[in-house]
Amino acid sequence: MSKITAAITAVGGYVPDYVLSNQILETMVDTSDEWITARTGIKERRILKDKDKGTSYLAIQAAKNLLQKSNLDPKEIDLVIMSTATPDMPVAATGAYVATQIGADNAFSYDLMAACSSFLFGMSTAASYIETGKYKKVLLIGADKMSSIIDYKDRTTCIIFGDGAGAVLFEPNSEGLGFQDEILRTDGNGRESLKIDAGGSLLPASTETVANNQHTVFQDGKTVFKFAVTRMADVSEKILERNNLTGEDIQWLVPHQANNRIIDATSKRMNLPDEKVMKNIYKYGNTTSATLPLCLWDYEKKLKKGDKLVFAAFGGGFSWGAIYLTWAYNPK
Ligand code: UT7
Repeated sequence: MSKITAAITAVGGYVPDYVLSNQILETMVDTSDEWITARTGIKERRILKDKDKGTSYLAIQAAKNLLQKSNLDPKEIDLVIMSTATPDMPVAATGAYVATQIGADNAFSYDLMAACSSFLFGMSTAASYIETGKYKKVLLIGADKMSSIIDYKDRTTCIIFGDGAGAVLFEPNSEGLGFQDEILRTDGNGRESLKIDAGGSLLPASTETVANNQHTVFQDGKTVFKFAVTRMADVSEKILERNNLTGEDIQWLVPHQANNRIIDATSKRMNLPDEKVMKNIYKYGNTTSATLPLCLWDYEKKLKKGDKLVFAAFGGGFSWGAIYLTWAYNPK
């Protein structure tokens, strides 16, 4: 009996309308378009301005876009995995609300959190459910309203992050296409370098934590950069070796969009020319859990059946990894 593989069969995405450009940021903090462009590659990011809307809103729009594009009846979905670092609320799973709002009434749902690796790790989880034969339609959403946890007075973080959401559907494939291999890693020693201090069980919210500004993202950029640039490249190179592939065999690198320089270091190590690297960091910034599916959303029309893709990410935790997947359909 041939093994069931788990293929991506549909893609959706959503970014809010409001554009926060480098020029606007120049009026908010001591920075410049030149510095941000040279150090990160970011020109603008999208921000969800509505105060009464959370990450679920972004996720629902991305999921609805996927449903509409693929003509899928949401009642056929078995499971909704919601990858996010910014859930609507601390206890109730955001995915449960999203699944109900999109009409996935026969699905169960939960959130998966691994900072910027949330979607990558979610791909592994979603694919495993399909490979075991347990479920037939798994919707994986990556969504983050990063603007809800960013201090717009801190120039070291506010220039980087943006809001957005992307979604993919995993289904069984009988031709061996889809998920092929993964190398996933974490190192808990890294948690002090990229974190929000308060609001969790270690340091619950209090008037003091609010006064001390401990509810927004802190990043030791230099340290995170140093680890990201080597770890992401290491696993990407290793996954090629392990599958007897070289850069020439790969059609696309789908990298986490945290910094142009990290992406370039990874593609260089894989011997990939720029044309084979998905990049949209210049227009969305770092959308955390949404970077990988938003790349697929932007590049979907260029992807052909049988194309070999390597996904790679690095994030808080630390967490990182690479996934090798073959594409299962031609542009529709
Ligand atoms: O997605 C999750 C994983 N996250 C990442 O992968 C992010 C990894 N880190 C990075 O991408 C980079 O470290 C940053 C983009 C965050 C920063 O770039 P950098 O080249 O590492 O800059 P730096 O932190 O070493 O700062 C260089 C200088 C400093 O000034 P001094 O000390 O040399 O006088 C900073 O104060 O640039 C200054 N600086 C800024 N200047 C203008 C820091 N932020 C800014 C800014 N505008 N926004």
